[in-house]
Amino acid sequence: MEIVIATHNNDKLKELLKAFDSHFSGIDLLTLNDFPEVGEIIEDGKTLEQNALIKVREVFNLTGIPCLSDDTGLEVDALNGAPGVYTARYAGEGCSYYDNVCKLLEDMQTIPAPNRTAKFKTVIAYKDETTEMTAEGIAEGSISRASSGDFGFGYDPIFFIPEARKTFAEMNIDEKEIYSHRGKAIRAIMNTLIPHLEQVRQMTKKEKA
Ligand code: IMP
Repeated sequence: MEIVIATHNNDKLKELLKAFDSHFSGIDLLTLNDFPEVGEIIEDGKTLEQNALIKVREVFNLTGIPCLSDDTGLEVDALNGAPGVYTARYAGEGCSYYDNVCKLLEDMQTIPAPNRTAKFKTVIAYKDETTEMTAEGIAEGSISRASSGDFGFGYDPIFFIPEARKTFAEMNIDEKEIYSHRGKAIRAIMNTLIPHLEQVRQMTKKEKA
């Protein structure tokens, strides 16, 4: 069996491949690099769940292969939940991770420590011929006053996890998976996805017999 990871973001892909690989056995994980015909996907949903579903639906329609996708947003309490669905382009169209980090630090310059709380949310979606499912993972933390750490990507250098006393960028990929929104969403979807894939396997076996 094959599953395509439907993302063009290589940083997310690295974390998704590593985590899914440890949960699946006998499944070949493909990426969009295997399907150059799949171009940029317009994510115009109003929620993370809608955007995650847009990605799996489009990639499933184009490839006919079961798909998994991830949509992630950062919600800062002092900014009334911004940047939310605009997390990727907080500093404007075509901005870099660094631009986003600088803008967020600047926008929060006057916010005192107790009010710097924030959440990272990920929705993972799965689609095949018969089934669609989604699951959410949330990481609670706070926005630090300055960047720290060299691992990860995006807002990782300023997203501080109190429990670990580290930013995500101070964690290697294995440690980040324990605390992160993405790691939690992946573990959550596995509760329904693994039994579903087992059912699909059994049905395919019967059809072949
Ligand atoms: P997307 O819309 O799911 O591709 O992600 C939106 C943006 O969120 C990305 O462009 C990154 O800036 C940021 N992002 C997503 N996941 C992470 C993460 O695990 N750590 C830090 N930033 C992230």
